[in-house]
Amino acid sequence: MHLALTNQIAVVTGASSGIGKAIALALGAQGARLCLLGRNVRTLGLAAPHAAKFTLDLANEPQICEVATRLQRDLGGVDILIHSAGVFVPDRAGTAASAEFDRQRQINVQAPSLLTHELLPTLRVRQGQIVFINSSVSRQPPAGVSQYTATKTALKAFADNLRNEVNGQGIRVLSVYPGRTATPMQAAIHRMEDKAYRPEQLLQPEDIASVIINALSLPRTAEVTEIDIRPMHKS
Ligand SMILES: NC(=O)c1ccc[n+]([C@@H]2O[C@H](COP(=O)([O-])OP(=O)(O)OC[C@H]3O[C@@H](n4cnc5c(N)ncnc54)[C@H](OP(=O)(O)O)[C@@H]3O)[C@@H](O)[C@H]2O)c1
Repeated sequence: MHLALTNQIAVVTGASSGIGKAIALALGAQGARLCLLGRNVRTLGLAAPHAAKFTLDLANEPQICEVATRLQRDLGGVDILIHSAGVFVPDRAGTAASAEFDRQRQINVQAPSLLTHELLPTLRVRQGQIVFINSSVSRQPPAGVSQYTATKTALKAFADNLRNEVNGQGIRVLSVYPGRTATPMQAAIHRMEDKAYRPEQLLQPEDIASVIINALSLPRTAEVTEIDIRPMHKS
């Protein structure tokens, strides 16, 4: 147990599933006070019944601003902001619909940028921490995912700029670059690739949650800026 996280107010997007759900559960186990954001409050409730929950569709920008205001009013502030929600659409460069690009850009980049912006005042006051779940595609772009890779690369740039801007105000910013992780998103990717899905050979969402908890718990003399994490089994 890391006492550093006890009673910290932690806001998590994407907490209904996969990596976000594992991070929310791990933060809860450390005594953090959870606030989960998602499209379906019932599904969020299944993840962590005692958490505060707010309905939020990250495609809806006015709703992001409203929820950010309510969060600060109802919770009194935010210490930890975890951006895990994301969408993936496969494409070959230049062949995919621009509507799919818009959707991925909105959910994977613009929404985390706007939510961060809206919560920065409270994060400054509370010397907060911000975590972006990025992807290994930003490190080594694979073939066939040009739009998704473009959005995750933009998210990396946003996080790196933000860190330069807010570090001096006591805010830590961490980007995490996981490889293939056993979640519903990865199961769907395997179906699209027509590959057998063997979740036991992939990274587990709990592996990612574990390294994030360690990074968030470090003394304030240190900052982990980036974490690359891959499945041990290489296919
Ligand atoms: N799985 C992997 O192999 C892998 C590898 C590298 C990076 N990542 C990244 O890790 C993050 C989490 O992915 P995952 O694998 O855990 O996927 P997942 O199990 O499919 O979960 C995705 C989450 O995003 C939320 N979400 C999607 N669209 C939303 C919207 N419009 N508004 C609010 N929430 C929305 C979903 O909520 P709903 O319940 O409302 O759908 C869900 O909670 C993503 O950013 C992904 O790009 C995943």
